[in-house]
Amino acid sequence: MKKFSIVVAGGGSTFTPGIVLMLLANQHRLPLRAIKFYDNDGARQETIAEACKILLQEQAPEIEFSYTTQPQVAFSDVDFVMAHIRVGKYPMREQDEKIPLRHGVVGQETCGPGGIAYGMRSIGGVLELVDYMTKYSPNAWMLNYSNPAAIVAEATRRLRPQAKILNICDMPIGIEGRMAQIAGLKDRKEMRTRYYGLNHFGWWTAIEDLAGNDLMPKIREHVAKFGYVPPSDKQATEASWNDTFAKAKDVWALDPDTLPNTYLKYYLFPDYVVQHANPQHTRANEVMEHREKHVFGSCNAIIQAGKSSAGELEIDEHASYIVDLAAAIAFNTQERMLLIVQNNGAIHNFDPEAMVEIPCLVGKSGPEPLVVGNIPQFQKGLMSQQVAVEKLVVDAWEQRSYQKLWQAITLSKTVPSASVAKAILDDLIVANKDYWPELR
Ligand code: NAD
Ligand code: G6P
Ligand code: MN
Repeated sequence: MKKFSIVVAGGGSTFTPGIVLMLLANQHRLPLRAIKFYDNDGARQETIAEACKILLQEQAPEIEFSYTTQPQVAFSDVDFVMAHIRVGKYPMREQDEKIPLRHGVVGQETCGPGGIAYGMRSIGGVLELVDYMTKYSPNAWMLNYSNPAAIVAEATRRLRPQAKILNICDMPIGIEGRMAQIAGLKDRKEMRTRYYGLNHFGWWTAIEDLAGNDLMPKIREHVAKFGYVPPSDKQATEASWNDTFAKAKDVWALDPDTLPNTYLKYYLFPDYVVQHANPQHTRANEVMEHREKHVFGSCNAIIQAGKSSAGELEIDEHASYIVDLAAAIAFNTQERMLLIVQNNGAIHNFDPEAMVEIPCLVGKSGPEPLVVGNIPQFQKGLMSQQVAVEKLVVDAWEQRSYQKLWQAITLSKTVPSASVAKAILDDLIVANKDYWPELR
């Protein structure tokens, strides 16, 4: 079987060790000859890389491993680029969350003004990775997790139309895992689902077991009472995420025929979200205090002891999705997967140019989207508004336009008025001066 070479872009990410462990656990499906890390923050990456080096030495010394901050070294001779960069890192995520909250508006990593601000930082960073890949390994595919995936996907569609990039999200997978538990199944792969929407903005319309039995009634009954909190939560979910899974109960009530993505709570219940937020301590603070500390602490312990048992690095089960995707392309498996792709008529009554999240068959030459058909007025209205926001952000980035960005923030369903939008935008410009193009 052919062996593949992978570069993880954003080698210093908190998710990198989990992805490496997951790649190791999946050698039978996607055999590797080389793993490289690339990051533009050499010091941050070094800690993660030195720990992963020890881990790889123990488990798979035959896989060649290296890490670098030099694009040519990183992107030459690779088959896949697995990208998960965060331009501005957690301190800027903290700004994205806290600035809107100061104005009484949802402060969130990928939704509302915070997601828009993050988009304005990410577009340039991801395009840079695409260009390195195209230059040094033109046959490679980029599997991109970097957020905000919806805005990044619109930017790459428009500005790098030929690029072999697939944008993905693990949220539907995470929710489907919970649905499987609710339905009494072991694995989400024992279900066949239908879903449509935008990234962090979608609905399931059908869930069946592999024999074709309808699982919707059972799951619906549970969601109506408990949201996506499963009967026994073995996963030790953090409190803030647990609130989000529980709130799905209220999101579901708006359209009981479907099952919603949890992210819809930010658009449909923004007042609730703001009331329950602490403007001095947001999710970015939680992540810095927990995940980041834990991952870097573990890596340092491994480096000091010279053995991986000294740390507590955990496999990222969600990321097995990225192996499914790489294997689908590498071995033409035609697996059915949810991807963020250009609509192109798949949703009949929706903008053909919009980037939508829908099931696709994936093979050697990429994704083949499945037909969704017509969608109801409620979803269509919400999605049209949100797609317009995402397109305006890319317009703003391309044209360096203050006006377009003001329109984008004003149009977000999380924002009450153009004057509030303007006040938020003016604060965001100051906070992002090192990252955004200068607006005129
Ligand atoms: P992190 O800050 O720990 O890691 C990001 C890394 O990217 C950092 O080491 C940083 O130095 C590096 N980086 C920033 N800009 C770069 C650039 N221009 N070139 C190269 N490297 C650069 O962040 P994290 O919490 O581990 O998340 C990483 C990314 O993955 C984020 O974008 C996050 O939103 C995304 N993510 C997406 C999904 C999804 O569903 N799509 C799921 C999980 C995480
Ligand atoms: C889910 C989403 C990602 C998002 C992440 C945030 O996995 O699909 O797009 O980045 O949650 O999680 P965090 O723990 O960083 O708040
Ligand atoms: Mn996501």
